[in-house]
Amino acid sequence: TPDITSICKDASAGIKNLDTAVRSRKCCPPALGKKVKPFVFPKEKTVRMRWPAHNGTKEQVDKYRAAIKAMRALPDDHPHSFVSQAKIHCAYCNGGYTQVDSGTGFPNVDIQIHNSWLFFPFHRWYLYFYERILGKLINDPTFALPFWKWDEPAGMPIPEIFVSETYAGQPNPLYDVYRKANHINERIVDLDYDGKDKDIPDKTQVLCNLSTVYRDLVRNGADTTSFFGGDYVAGDAPVGNSDPSVGSVESGSHTAVHRWVGDTTQPNGEDMGNFYSAGYDPVFYIHHANVDRMWKLWKELGIPGHVEPTDPDWLNASYIFYDENEDLVQVFNKDSVNLDKLKFNYIENSKEVFPWRKSRP
Ligand code: C2O
Repeated sequence: TPDITSICKDASAGIKNLDTAVRSRKCCPPALGKKVKPFVFPKEKTVRMRWPAHNGTKEQVDKYRAAIKAMRALPDDHPHSFVSQAKIHCAYCNGGYTQVDSGTGFPNVDIQIHNSWLFFPFHRWYLYFYERILGKLINDPTFALPFWKWDEPAGMPIPEIFVSETYAGQPNPLYDVYRKANHINERIVDLDYDGKDKDIPDKTQVLCNLSTVYRDLVRNGADTTSFFGGDYVAGDAPVGNSDPSVGSVESGSHTAVHRWVGDTTQPNGEDMGNFYSAGYDPVFYIHHANVDRMWKLWKELGIPGHVEPTDPDWLNASYIFYDENEDLVQVFNKDSVNLDKLKFNYIENSKEVFPWRKSRP
């Protein structure tokens, strides 16, 4: 566990062009002098049902826009501000924190929550608080995030609501200036993007994408380690993205979408193309909602071997976040596994939950 309020440094790890970086490298969270509290499961009866971003109702879209707008309106040093939420990713992923763990850990070793088995649980918790904060900002305890459903043909384009600069005569709060312009206009994502445009017909791209999802969830994700990523425990140096232990979804469709959305004319592929800046694009959170959903679907496939890690080093790894009440909360991987307890889930299309199921590459 990092000591996020007193031991945090400017981000630099993994940022290629430090001098020309277009977002701030000062990623430490606001220090409000609060004590860290243990996490308590939500007591509410309702379940927040995350909805496909390409197919939201007017009410869902309006609420989502209003919530992001309210978040953007907060002063940057508020723990719920748009900038503070973006900086969480930067601090946990670009060397903001070290493995101090209440003084008994490894204060000279940076924390990196990517490229290992921390990837899925860390991002689940990140979105968990982000969603509850947004709901609080518009006073809606049922507020649920959209997800970018890139595993279904109709959901593969970058969702329309994120694309236009203005909305109803005002700036669109879901728009981000640092995106790769021609990708946004062509709009069907390439889940296997490696930095080069394939220039294939949309229909072919759709079939390729379905095969990529099959590859990440079935063929390359056959067991716990290949799906979640290799172990990463206290004292381990940060794992690089070329390490063979990166999980199938993380190294596959997840990273491809980051690279595909980020603006390659910016020094670090901002925003989506680098950890330190990705959280500044609202698309980041809906992309990660779908990545999180891949964890759920992988389990629901019911294939033997599709189970979470049970190693105590995984179960007891923890992170600290500001919750919707501006309290600092410590959360553990072991508490991230059960969606029923976390009171959120994903709206599925009952007719076709796995359109990629027969897309064996
Ligand atoms: Cu924390 Cu998609 O990266």
